[in-house]
Amino acid sequence: MRIVLMGPPGAGKGTQARRLAESTGMKHLSTGDMLRAEVAAGTELGLLAKSFMDKGDYVPDSHIIAMIEQLVDDPAGILLDGFPRTIVQAEALDEALEKVGLPIDKVVHMSVDTDELVLRLSNRAICKKCQTPYNLISNAPSKDGVCDNCGSEVIVRDDDKPEAVKNRMKVYEELTAPVLNYYRQRGNVAEIVATGTPDSVFEKLSQAIELTQSAG
Ligand code: AP5
Ligand code: MG
Repeated sequence: MRIVLMGPPGAGKGTQARRLAESTGMKHLSTGDMLRAEVAAGTELGLLAKSFMDKGDYVPDSHIIAMIEQLVDDPAGILLDGFPRTIVQAEALDEALEKVGLPIDKVVHMSVDTDELVLRLSNRAICKKCQTPYNLISNAPSKDGVCDNCGSEVIVRDDDKPEAVKNRMKVYEELTAPVLNYYRQRGNVAEIVATGTPDSVFEKLSQAIELTQSAG
């Protein structure tokens, strides 16, 4: 299966993609996580990406496409989180999938109202190493500042500062909302309201993609 999870910053794409990957064995491909790993490793791409990410702007399409196009035919199936985010990226994904003869099975649009998104992002922290997201109010790590999953340090993302969050919302509306319409014209978008507990959102998501035993 090839699933695209779409939704504004803070919609819960990472939270749900992790759960879905765990329960199905599908490969979770998050361009945001990949870029943060490049930043942490101090690579050339990481240095370039950081200058865009800290302001809440998108990293140029060519870098993103190069990072992801070789990964789309994973036999376990893929869960795309945060990609594609522009029409150029969506077209590049179509081309890459066409080459390997694999279609997108479902695009899931996770909607959450803006006030809740801002609240979620202002309370978010992530693991520096494995990038597991936490909510410091409702889902804090069991031990302060330590990741439950891998034991590494839990930190606040540089782009979760209020100014960057504001710009991320704006950029999403300008550049990513059109991608949703691109897919809607094909009729393969499932809409879910991604509020309520993460468990209840997971249930809605599983129904939306008509999860069966074999996801590959
Ligand atoms: P990316 O890392 O993809 O950030 P984003 O899209 O802004 O989304 P987030 O990761 O902030 O939110 P999420 O939807 O994953 O929510 P989460 O599960 O963490 O991208 C970062 C940057 O990288 C971009 O701004 C850009 O610069 C660059 N980039 C990445 N991809 C790119 C691309 N394709 N092209 C160009 N540039 C790119 O949840 C958020 C919080 O809410 C957490 O605290 C979580 O615990 C909590 N939460 C989750 N679910 C619930 C719930 N049901 N109830 C209450 N709280 C919840
Ligand atoms: Mg995320």
